[in-house]
Amino acid sequence: MEKQEIRTFGRRHGKKLSARQQTLVDELLPTLKPQDGDILEIGFGAGEHVRNLALANPNKIIIGAEPFMNGVASLLSAITDEKTNQVFDEYKNIRIWADDVRDFLRNTDSKFKQIWVLHPDPWPKARHEKRRLLSADFLNTLSKYLSSDGEIIIGTDHWEYFDWILEQIKETNLSATIPDMEIIQTRYQNKNKAGTTAPKYLVLHN
Ligand SMILES: C[S@@+](CC[C@H](N)C(=O)[O-])C[C@H]1O[C@@H](n2cnc3c(N)ncnc32)[C@H](O)[C@@H]1O
Repeated sequence: MEKQEIRTFGRRHGKKLSARQQTLVDELLPTLKPQDGDILEIGFGAGEHVRNLALANPNKIIIGAEPFMNGVASLLSAITDEKTNQVFDEYKNIRIWADDVRDFLRNTDSKFKQIWVLHPDPWPKARHEKRRLLSADFLNTLSKYLSSDGEIIIGTDHWEYFDWILEQIKETNLSATIPDMEIIQTRYQNKNKAGTTAPKYLVLHN
């Protein structure tokens, strides 16, 4: 029997979706299922940064992966016209995988120019540490999906998780730089549950 993967995310469903959101999930989401893409964002939450990537990279296909359906529904609402439910032209390069990114990766041949992971769930309790997404194993998996000059960009305001990721990187062939960067605020970043002064970022290369 295949070993079951440890779940890295919390809830899949929150409060009931609005009627419009439910229609978008039922009718639009299946048409946005990704095959191949240029840029991947893992765990996009409500999708603010996915939208930014789409606007900044009009000729690239942006794939967002997120198993939390209320987040997926928020992104679908934001990229569509309220009257027609049609995707706005500037967001037509967005594709959505509404599930665990690891299931998507097993079925794609994509080599990404960028893979973004912003504010991965920190799972702060010691007994939950095994749920942290950015383990050495997973980073090694991601490295296989990078184009030759591709990069993995990680941001977290949970500094202890940041240090833990640096330890994980030592067990991979990836090299890390710590850039001085600022990006748009995501919903989770605004909550700043860790109470730190700013997020820290990491850029990884093969
Ligand atoms: C703390 S939230 C941050 C959301 C967003 N990036 C932000 O900054 O607002 C982490 C997100 O990662 C998602 N996540 C966790 N494990 C995942 C996985 N295996 N595949 C895809 N998304 C995952 C969770 O569902 C959650 O929405």
